[in-house]
Amino acid sequence: MRRRIVAGNWKMNMTPSEAVILCEKLKGLVNNPEVDVVYCVPAIDIMPVAEAVKGTLVKVGAENMYFEEKGAYTGEISAAMLKDAGVSYVILGHSERRMLFGETDEAINKKMKKAIEYGITPIMCCGETLKQREDGITLSHIKSQVKAGFDGIKAEDAENCVIAYEPIWAIGTGKTATSEQAEEVCRAIRECIAELYGAEVADKLRVQYGGSVNASNAAELFNMPDIDGGLVGGASLKEEFGSIVNA
Ligand code: 13P
Repeated sequence: MRRRIVAGNWKMNMTPSEAVILCEKLKGLVNNPEVDVVYCVPAIDIMPVAEAVKGTLVKVGAENMYFEEKGAYTGEISAAMLKDAGVSYVILGHSERRMLFGETDEAINKKMKKAIEYGITPIMCCGETLKQREDGITLSHIKSQVKAGFDGIKAEDAENCVIAYEPIWAIGTGKTATSEQAEEVCRAIRECIAELYGAEVADKLRVQYGGSVNASNAAELFNMPDIDGGLVGGASLKEEFGSIVNA
């Protein structure tokens, strides 16, 4: 049985002092021992959030990192820095990074490997545009993103990774994929992992759904057989996140 994982992606929200207040506000609401709860926060919030969630079950995640070890990469953050600051998860290849910052499958693959090397669990995002869905190429597009992201990653590392399926047309739009649409793609992701690594790894790897998840649709989505939790944007900044974790 796969353990559920619900992660908040704060995106570019919350100053360090606002972040601490939010952690306090959510404290009693997200302490569910049956679920892995992660706050993926802006880099500058990582240390204060790590401090604020001390003694709770919440884990801290980053929203991005760079694949090089260290050096002249102005503005970037390394896996070693994240690890030292108390990070256990990192979102990689979010569609906003792919679209706005030109992140390629190749760069995401390098980041995956570096995160794994440092014992940080990647949450690798994939998802189709509305156009790709209308053109009927959703599943082939998702599979190619997954294959590229996992290129050269060993089975024993792959099984601990998390994949988030986030249809781009459902992000921040209030338009959620139906539980059937989400399940269809999450199942295809698992089949793709089975093709690459075999059924045992596919059965262990956790797949999340993301895109306008809220307190009223979470339970239905998370109850689908291949959906092991969610990656939550807007609603992770509100008390509503507690209801999503407990869904
Ligand atoms: P929303 O939940 O705000 O749609 O964002 C989803 C997302 O991009 C999480 O990574």
